[in-house]
Amino acid sequence: MSSVAPKILVTRRMPEAVNKKLKSHFTVSLNETDKLFTSSELRKALEEADGILCSVTEKFSRTILDLSKRKTQIISNFGVGLDHIDLNFAKSSNIVVTNTPDVLTDATADLTILLILSSTRKAYSWEKKLRSGLWSGFSPVEDLGVSLRGKTLGVIGMGRIGKAVARRAHQGFGMKVVYFNRSYIGSIDFPARPAQSIGHVIREADVISIHLPGDKSNHGLINKEKISLMRAHAHLINTSRGEVIDQEALVDALSSGRIAGAGLDVFQNEPHVPQSLTSLKNVTLLPHIGSATQEARDAMGFLAVDNLIAHFGQKQYPSRVV
Ligand code: DGY
Repeated sequence: MSSVAPKILVTRRMPEAVNKKLKSHFTVSLNETDKLFTSSELRKALEEADGILCSVTEKFSRTILDLSKRKTQIISNFGVGLDHIDLNFAKSSNIVVTNTPDVLTDATADLTILLILSSTRKAYSWEKKLRSGLWSGFSPVEDLGVSLRGKTLGVIGMGRIGKAVARRAHQGFGMKVVYFNRSYIGSIDFPARPAQSIGHVIREADVISIHLPGDKSNHGLINKEKISLMRAHAHLINTSRGEVIDQEALVDALSSGRIAGAGLDVFQNEPHVPQSLTSLKNVTLLPHIGSATQEARDAMGFLAVDNLIAHFGQKQYPSRVV
């Protein structure tokens, strides 16, 4: 690294341990108020900082990145998904982009299981009843959920997180696993059957879990037609990106009772969640907290910093994407 420490601008408030590590290597500009950057503040940051540590909340579109006086050489993303950054433009402009895979896999897979259990055991609707004083006591038959044992989990996108969810579902809950992955993925160390298409997974599964990147090509992939293939008792779980599901089509299927339930941690146009979703009892809604454990968030921050250290020290990046 050169004798003058590179300037790193951090767009969001980070865990304390991450700030400490950043400060020991760089000249750092932190965002202690955690107020979201406007487009013009992002442009200014690109003109002033050697590197930017950002998260999914900062949209680095071509319009933002395309600056004649840009100083930033690297965007180190705190998170694995990179749909908020125009990677093609970054590549053509020699901006390095890194992310934080692996370290959030367990946390996100755990949260996916939480949503699967919540949806199949009607946790939200029961809790709502209890909190509104409408619970009249134990009942042998009222509003029963379903067991996961022997049921089929359909995984769409069998990457790191998809596999971690499938492993938990199989080993922990006795589920069978069927999956679709666009590319061939060698052997898996637990029983899991590949299907020919997303449609085949959807038709067969009792619980469908989406683990796809939010690239434009995946927007609206789980559309009305695909949702119509779901079994009437099936549940749809999404901890990847909201844009992958046609949210309106999902609302229709849930409100008409066409499908049994859903569990969502991600939405189209976050942080806006429409009342058509929040008013439904058969959907569990969480605010994009897949990786929100102290352990995962520290590890994501450390990895984001390690990518910056590698860049400015001309070492091998732990996780470079562009
Ligand atoms: C991720 O890692 O992609 C999370 O969704 C936060 O960005």
